[in-house]
Amino acid sequence: MNVAIIGTGYVGLTTGVCLAFLGNHVWCLDTDQEKIRSLHAGRPTIYEPWLAELLAQASRNLCFTTSYEAAIPKAQIVFIAVGTPPEPGGAPDLRYLRSAAQSTGQHLSDDFTVVVNKSTVPIGCGNWVEALIRESFEAHRRQKPNGRFAVASNPEFLREGTALRDSLYPDRVVIGADEPRALDVLYSLYRPLIEQSFPAPTFLPRPEGLGAVPLVSTDLASAELIKYAANAFLALKISYINEIGELAEKVGADITQVAKGIGLDARIGTRFLQAGLGWGGSCFGKDMSALVATAGEYGLRMPIVEAGREVNFRQRERVVKKLLAEMKILKGKTVGLLGLAFKPNTDDLRDAPALDIARRLVERGCRVRAHDPVALERARRESDGLEIGFCDAPAEVGKDADALVLVTEWPDYRDLDWELLAKSMRTPFLVDGRNFLDRDRLTRAGFRYIRLNG
Ligand SMILES: NC(=O)c1ccc[n+]([C@@H]2O[C@H](COP(=O)([O-])OP(=O)(O)OC[C@H]3O[C@@H](n4cnc5c(N)ncnc54)[C@H](O)[C@@H]3O)[C@@H](O)[C@H]2O)c1
Repeated sequence: MNVAIIGTGYVGLTTGVCLAFLGNHVWCLDTDQEKIRSLHAGRPTIYEPWLAELLAQASRNLCFTTSYEAAIPKAQIVFIAVGTPPEPGGAPDLRYLRSAAQSTGQHLSDDFTVVVNKSTVPIGCGNWVEALIRESFEAHRRQKPNGRFAVASNPEFLREGTALRDSLYPDRVVIGADEPRALDVLYSLYRPLIEQSFPAPTFLPRPEGLGAVPLVSTDLASAELIKYAANAFLALKISYINEIGELAEKVGADITQVAKGIGLDARIGTRFLQAGLGWGGSCFGKDMSALVATAGEYGLRMPIVEAGREVNFRQRERVVKKLLAEMKILKGKTVGLLGLAFKPNTDDLRDAPALDIARRLVERGCRVRAHDPVALERARRESDGLEIGFCDAPAEVGKDADALVLVTEWPDYRDLDWELLAKSMRTPFLVDGRNFLDRDRLTRAGFRYIRLNG
């Protein structure tokens, strides 16, 4: 099929590359010329395991452009995957979505096109996008679109760091539209994924035993709500174990064992039940705010979702309190952060706990240094003048530091030369924000080692 993807960020690029790999002809469109230039040259613009390999393999089916005129008229399906960042009040900023919808309306061809919201958009946005496209089409063509297009929702559930795996081997595919023709077109596109009938890339083998992928085919509003409800639930699970973790610390219980004991109940499950610094990233916080804002429009409150957010952000201040309790005075001290990305295997720094913690420490007069295996370059560009000394190696973070905080659980950090690090520090003290390192090993290396949850 001919597919156009508007917005070539984490979601748009991953989707485009996977659909091209499956044999579709894909136009990836972005207003950011630098991104398009880089992708043209075969250079991925984000860090994502195996993206460069899949990009190379699918390149003959991929075109990158900044031109709506080039991408839209040929497309049978247009995905909108632009950003929907939060506004200060919590509601998502829909200006990119508006602009993408209006430009799509200008360039629609006479053949039936399905326009799909892949961006996470508030409930009702499908209808809004439909109206924007219709108005824009009418303004440019001086006629009504008369069944030339339909709008669908196809929420994205990929996780950064495993985005390609999640896209090729999803837990489910959700499509929503009020027009059956749109659902049929999307079903045809996703059929190889649903039936798992495509040859898997050698570097991303199909998980053993994976059969057909469940399809949820529903109406527009339900598809839109599924995305928000799923993200809020996952975020709540993390906040819940963090709240239990705080109590575990008080009563002297081991939160790792408690989480295991809870999670082995098949009704609960062990995933998203790791206590620690909590979630960050571009989605959970923004989607929970949007859910609360949407409910507010209907006069509803969502106290559970609101509490989940509050508990999450409390975790970041708890790290600072742990440092304060141990070091007494933070002014003039040097704290090293291990990890900047909001989670391992990505370079995404949106709402990264590391930057928030760094800000809180700098405000208290600390010097902050930080290392990350892949996000350093992005951090230098995106840390908004925050005074952080960026270090190319973990050893530099530790040199003469008064404390370290493990912020991101990069696997490489498990096997650092901890003895050497301890010797290089002024005081070998480490707060493990992810309950990730081996307590005995760190203690043997000479560290005073504490976890966020005792
Ligand atoms: N990142 C994730 O893990 C993830 C997962 C699921 C859903 N989502 C949702 O998907 C959407 C996209 O997220 P992302 O992380 O890929 O965002 P992103 O910021 O990485 O990418 C968005 C891209 O859209 C481009 N863009 C903006 N306006 C445009 C326009 N009018 N025309 C063409 N391109 C335009 C930007 O230049 C940018 O490259 C958001 O709604 C997000 O909530 C994200």
